[in-house]
Amino acid sequence: MNKKNSRKILLLPGDGIGPEVVREVKKILEWFNKNKSLDFSFEEELIGGASIDVNKIPITDEVFYKSLESDAVILGACGGPKWDNLEFSKKPERALLKLRKELKLFANLRPAICFSQLVDSSTLKPEIVSGLDIMIVRELTGGIYFGEPRGIEPIENNQRRGINTHSYTTSEIHRIAKVAFDLAKKRKNKVTSCEKSNVMEAGVLWREEVQVLKDKEYKNVELHHMLADNCAMQLLRNPKQFDVILADNLFGDMLSDEAAMLTGSLGLLPSASLGAKDKNGKIRSLYEPVHGSAPDIAGKNLANPIATILSLSMALRYSLNLDKEADQLDAAVQKVLDEGLRTKDIISKGKKEVTTTDMGDAIISKLK
Ligand code: IPM
Ligand code: MG
Repeated sequence: MNKKNSRKILLLPGDGIGPEVVREVKKILEWFNKNKSLDFSFEEELIGGASIDVNKIPITDEVFYKSLESDAVILGACGGPKWDNLEFSKKPERALLKLRKELKLFANLRPAICFSQLVDSSTLKPEIVSGLDIMIVRELTGGIYFGEPRGIEPIENNQRRGINTHSYTTSEIHRIAKVAFDLAKKRKNKVTSCEKSNVMEAGVLWREEVQVLKDKEYKNVELHHMLADNCAMQLLRNPKQFDVILADNLFGDMLSDEAAMLTGSLGLLPSASLGAKDKNGKIRSLYEPVHGSAPDIAGKNLANPIATILSLSMALRYSLNLDKEADQLDAAVQKVLDEGLRTKDIISKGKKEVTTTDMGDAIISKLK
């Protein structure tokens, strides 16, 4: 159903728990259409392993073009053991990487917020994580994920060599650092930039160029440089020292999983992947939970839909110009947590365990 002038959202449920958590997002979009006279039009398409099973490839051109044309893409998860043995270029994850690269979604925003209701779900002491509010800004279209040359090649004596290339240019570093500085200005005004400048030339360049940009355009933002391994350690030792963490593609991948766990569960963390403004002022964007496809619990109605629901809320805010609705959705999530409803991943003593669908329904009931 495609209404003219409506906001076009493409839903890509994907694999594992993806379809279950995206189903809850669809219910919320339907609720907004019905009760707030909004005009979301949404379509659902296959991606990842689900697409491989039907189309033999992780994303078809048709789906790719639909994602180019939509106002926001919401993705569940890609991948699972069923497709693990496929050749690298045919794996489900390639679809996600293709979308990131070809939609030029260079900025990945991964907030790690510890909800007060859930301090006990973290494996860390409550005083370490309560009130935690970090924003990880991860570069998403460069670095070792995409660098050339890459591959596995035969060498002498029946040996093989695996090769990947890590590289960044000045402009790639500046455009992602700019996102981090701009976000920091609206928060606690502090950026910690991570690299391994003690061992990698690309890390030396990263550090120098982030500093250059700060000195030129962001004199009033506090900037710290930190080696990425130290940052991993500091996140566990004293996570509240951080405001915005800026990292490349690979370090950002790892640090964001670690930060996620500080908050109690990967099941709570949304993410936004944003591109540059095009000539019409439109920003391409993809929203997805930070968690993966969780094949062990897939199909059991156990998954936590909150990360995906909060990803919708980020989409409302960053792509659809619906701040009020985003606030409303965030508040609904808070209310449900206040009432003690918990999916299995965040259950604790005295709380009520609910299914994926129950959690979605409860959040919708609080939207009113
Ligand atoms: C993530 C995931 C992906 C990544 C995988 C699924 C390709 O771990 O979004 O963090 O490594 O970027
Ligand atoms: Mg990851």
